Amino acid sequence: MARREIFAGNWKMYKTHQEALDLAQGIRAWTTTGIGNREVIIFPPAPYAKAVAELCRGSRIDVGMQNMHFEQEGAFTGEVSPPMVRDCGCRYVLIGHSERRHVFGETDDDVNKKVIAAFKSDIEPVVCVGELLEEREKGLTNEVLRRQVEKAFTGIGAGRMKKVIIAYEPVWAIGTGKVATPETAEEAHGYIRKVVKNLYAADTADSLPILYGGSVKPDNIAGLFCMANIDGVLVGGASLKVDSFLEIIRVK
Ligand code: 13P
Repeated sequence: MARREIFAGNWKMYKTHQEALDLAQGIRAWTTTGIGNREVIIFPPAPYAKAVAELCRGSRIDVGMQNMHFEQEGAFTGEVSPPMVRDCGCRYVLIGHSERRHVFGETDDDVNKKVIAAFKSDIEPVVCVGELLEEREKGLTNEVLRRQVEKAFTGIGAGRMKKVIIAYEPVWAIGTGKVATPETAEEAHGYIRKVVKNLYAADTADSLPILYGGSVKPDNIAGLFCMANIDGVLVGGASLKVDSFLEIIRVK
């Protein structure tokens, strides 16, 4: 089955307001043609999401928020609610990024609540999963992936599952320069698809876009993107410059 091809950039906590606009403008200018049906999503820092979404309106680029709270509103100082994400013009939200899980202590239960909250506000979730190095070394990779996927989508029906994107980001490959080999990534993606197939129907699993993230660069994208179960990438560092992000998006 032909699946969506998605190239996403997670800007994390980088860029000033003007730099964010310049980067978005640069990507917009170069993605008007030559990218076929590929979809481009950028995740700017929250304070710039609205301005970046306005700049990208009518273009090939969609915008997402890097995180949000699961409550609709309330006394949660410093947090961003799902309706605020929508108000900012974001179509997507990243949920359960490894930095949220491992730096800020986000649990599988939080991830599940956020996925449910995203749908409540008509936001499409990009759910990140991935194992720690020690988990991989102990042979626990599949167990971790299965648990994260099963928990993330508890209570999510097949119809909603069709709007989900999963990003496999092995924690040991994020920001380390240690990209997973295409074979290692492919194995994990195939396993994630199998888990989704066991939870839903085969067609749901077959159409699910699964992105790889972790030290993706212009010089390693080709090997990754040609794998059968790798439908795109979630890029950190290399998405912060127009040139390197475009080189990735335009991979043959
Ligand atoms: P790097 O591409 O910098 O390793 O970051 C990956 C990532 O965390 C994307 O969400």
